[in-house]
Amino acid sequence: MCGIVGYVGHSAGRVNTGHNALDVVLEGLRRLEYRGYDSAGIAVVADGTISSRKKSGKLNNLIAELEASPLPESVTGIGHTRWATHGGPTDQNAHPHLADDGKLALIHNGIIENFAELKLDLLGKGVEFRSETDTEVAAALLGDIYRNQLHGDHSTGGLTKAMQLACQRLEGAFTLLAVHADQPDVVVAARRNSPLVVGLGEGENFLGSDVSGFIDYTRRAVELGQDQIVTITADSVEITDFYGAPAEGKEYKVDWDPASAEKGGFPSFMEKEIHDQPDAVLQTLLGRSDIHGRLTLDELRIDPELLKSVDKIIVLACGTSAYAGQVAKYAIERWCRIPTEVELSHEFRYRDPIVDENTLIVSISQSGETMDTLMAVRYAKEQGAKTVSICNTNGSTIPRESDAVLYTHAGPEIAVASTKAFLAQITAAYLLGLYLAQLRGNKFQGEIKDILADLGKIPAKIQQILDNEGQIKELGAAMADAKSVLFLGRHVGFPVAMEGALKLKELAYIHAEGFAAGELKHGPIALIEEGQPVFVVVPSPRGRDSLHAKVVSNIQEVRARGAKTIVIAEEGDEAVQAYAEHVFYIPETPTLLAPLLSTVPLQIFALALASAKGYDVDQPRNLAKSVTVE
Ligand code: M6R
Repeated sequence: MCGIVGYVGHSAGRVNTGHNALDVVLEGLRRLEYRGYDSAGIAVVADGTISSRKKSGKLNNLIAELEASPLPESVTGIGHTRWATHGGPTDQNAHPHLADDGKLALIHNGIIENFAELKLDLLGKGVEFRSETDTEVAAALLGDIYRNQLHGDHSTGGLTKAMQLACQRLEGAFTLLAVHADQPDVVVAARRNSPLVVGLGEGENFLGSDVSGFIDYTRRAVELGQDQIVTITADSVEITDFYGAPAEGKEYKVDWDPASAEKGGFPSFMEKEIHDQPDAVLQTLLGRSDIHGRLTLDELRIDPELLKSVDKIIVLACGTSAYAGQVAKYAIERWCRIPTEVELSHEFRYRDPIVDENTLIVSISQSGETMDTLMAVRYAKEQGAKTVSICNTNGSTIPRESDAVLYTHAGPEIAVASTKAFLAQITAAYLLGLYLAQLRGNKFQGEIKDILADLGKIPAKIQQILDNEGQIKELGAAMADAKSVLFLGRHVGFPVAMEGALKLKELAYIHAEGFAAGELKHGPIALIEEGQPVFVVVPSPRGRDSLHAKVVSNIQEVRARGAKTIVIAEEGDEAVQAYAEHVFYIPETPTLLAPLLSTVPLQIFALALASAKGYDVDQPRNLAKSVTVE
């Protein structure tokens, strides 16, 4: 949550880089806005003073403010897009917050848990506060330390020292970035349990919540560890711990193209990302098996013997990623015969779960920064479990803290509602399941090869659905006035139904609920009244035909009570036609792989319905892409 950018260029070298802090920071904020869009702000250091502007609402409001009231040219600046925690989304609560008589500006992502106690202390010293935020308390603390404890001594890295001392007193999760008018060539940052990456340039350096904050300028990035402080100037990057001991970061190269984080001609990132899905699945499969159909997950650096001794798998995730986990459970249990639980990360560690060294924890997170999942993974590690992360964001915290990582190669997902990451997560989880089956001998090599071959056909099948999206788009637009939509599914169709409902809640702000179709008679059927739209994800009539028949009965049951039924079924399944107002066909595929197809029409439906209501599908209200607070 919250997007953070920092920049320092070389005033003499500016001619070479041609970069002005304002432009760099604004471009970074534009790319990071998906992390929070309640307000935005920026501060630059120029002519021995701090100048700042901040505005509630989306980044465009700040840009309008900057046009009305421009900032001076500068080579040092910080910027922030906010997802409100302490205090509403007002101008006053927007970051940066100033301290030390306006000479220091600070931006923050996270929550300072002991802010009340610190605030009392600072109030006692006569500090006045203008906002309701915990960030202003951190700014005041930093300013107080700089001015009163270090006596404004900037000759020996005063701001860095002040940041170290401040961080020693802060509790909670935070990324902090500060600039001070006395040190115009420096940005100092700190991180604890909150993301921060350094970008290395030539005669300029960058900071960002993630690499998209500076991807237009450099591909060289440095991962920071927990509880580290970094001080950047145009020519240097120095890292210490909170007590001043030198520390090192890990440099890596960003392997995605900035163009992949653009809309590519689509009206929204979400629509573009839905259309990226054939490639997201393909990229996630590529290079992970040999021509004999043997999985070669070299990056899973866990001793195979340990993986063989696993007697339980717990998948930890939140939101859409948790639904990917629920799909994975069906496949992993079927292929590997290992009991697999799926648990929402935020529930996990508070219930004293049974976890030991034979437990394999599989965390699933697009961002790799979801605090609930990170904390759950840490807890499981403390209990001795082995941890594998399925993640879409290179260098993010969860994979770094896990024993192994299986990256999904969906490319950057910008729209807040997850689409392509979901399909890539399911794909990666299938690969993990097949790898375990291979290792443990649960499946013959030929069987694994066949499943991989079926997976290989999925991208073209998704494309087929996308090529025929017109009908579902029309239905979505025509249903813009719907007050409630229900989704039913069974087996792997159940998590798909829940994902369909989540997409609609997130994007269209209407009541939507996903149910296991078998549960209908145990309560939810009472919701059905005349005209109630009900989506039904129908399993293939081939193979598990008894399940197909049962779901067809479920359709009849809701229809008999007045529901308007919209059915997602496999090509050739004519049995459903008699009971459906609308049928959307997906290509034939093995049951366990069907979620990679049946989810797509539901995504398109939610997108079309929300667009028809005129809503911003990329930045739905109240949400943020990366939930970095618990
Ligand atoms: O980054 P993560 O995958 O850990 O995020 C988990 C959820 O916050 C995320 O999937 C959320 O539910 C999405 N907005 C769903 O579209």
